[in-house]
Amino acid sequence: MILSALIFAGLSSALPQAGGGGQNTMLRFGCSQVVIDRIDPLVNPGLAPSPHMHQVVGGNAFNVTMQSTDIAKLADCTTCGYADDFSNYWTANLYFKARNGTYKRVPQIPNRDLFGDKYTGKTKGGFVVYYVSPGKAKVTAFKPGFRMLVGDANNRVSKNLKSQTCFRCYTGPNFGGDNAAPCQDAKLDTEGFPKGACPGGIRSNILYPTCWDGTNLDSPDHKAHVAYPKNGPALFTGSSVGGDCPSTHPIKIPQIMLEIVWDTSKFNNKAEWPTDSQPFVLSTGDDTGFGQHGDYVFGWKDDSLQKAMDSAKGCMGASCGGLREQQPDAGNACQVKQVVHEDADGWLKELPGMGEMPM
Ligand SMILES: *[C@@H]1O[C@H](CO)[C@@H](O)[C@H](O)[C@H]1NC(C)=O
Ligand SMILES: *[C@@H]1O[C@H](CO)[C@@H](O)[C@H](O)[C@H]1NC(C)=O
Repeated sequence: MILSALIFAGLSSALPQAGGGGQNTMLRFGCSQVVIDRIDPLVNPGLAPSPHMHQVVGGNAFNVTMQSTDIAKLADCTTCGYADDFSNYWTANLYFKARNGTYKRVPQIPNRDLFGDKYTGKTKGGFVVYYVSPGKAKVTAFKPGFRMLVGDANNRVSKNLKSQTCFRCYTGPNFGGDNAAPCQDAKLDTEGFPKGACPGGIRSNILYPTCWDGTNLDSPDHKAHVAYPKNGPALFTGSSVGGDCPSTHPIKIPQIMLEIVWDTSKFNNKAEWPTDSQPFVLSTGDDTGFGQHGDYVFGWKDDSLQKAMDSAKGCMGASCGGLREQQPDAGNACQVKQVVHEDADGWLKELPGMGEMPM
């Protein structure tokens, strides 16, 4: 009780405060894994296998050649707590590299329930998705076919972009040490992987751009049609939420954030770690963490997301006025068939795709 009260107090003080007394909307909801597969319809459409593995959440219209179309009309189920969110979100998997050179996938575990939510804590795999709107400023929900990418899977050096993708080392069980806004804690949050063991696991947050050029649903690098506000990512930054957009990208879009939790507790014995480094590696082969990235394809049904973002009262967590919700069993039952059949959970001699010729 005391612990959860403290966590809640910590988070509440970090919540966005709108200027002029208006209230923000912050949707926060769990999404189970819909499939784990070596495909990437955003960066490598049509390619199976694609260069590296991903864990995917959201609607069941996910496939290797997804067109820029209204996928909410093609999907008939979703793994997310909001039943009208048929979007897809995907990120790299995490592996433990043992001293003997073999790899084992680190499980993605549910985050905790907050704000009366009873879904997020019961998801299978997957992660938590956030959509935040600034108090009184209007945000424009994404259009069908919209997609974007955060991060660079090939990056291996610091770019001082901790505010876009970061890792938090949970210092104790039950999300210990988690009382500060994501990607902003000088001690707990890092741009690369934590160097020491994290007894309570590792969390990764990915914050998407909040400014759009108003025209393009996508761009060749999946980034140029969107931009960060001048102050950087906008989540939990008080009255500057959704801060000024550059003139090239004047349209404010919701702040999406992904929040992944890996249960590293079985991998904290340093006698099993490589002798010269921390043991975790992304499915891209990245043992720095600087190549963390997240893909997004919009798929909310009709104008459901716009309605949530416009809500005058503010919506918090996994409940929001007229938005349809579902129960964890229904979300956990939604699945997509794997295309590239590969051992996802055994001890592996090499990471899937990493033994092949570079593309
Ligand atoms: C994949 O989805 C697209 C729509 O996004 C559809 O046109 C295509 O037929 C689907 N392909 C397969 C193999 O299901
Ligand atoms: C490699 O190390 C891991 C963890 O220490 C162990 O579980 C696994 O069986 C080992 N594999 C081989 C082939 O020795």
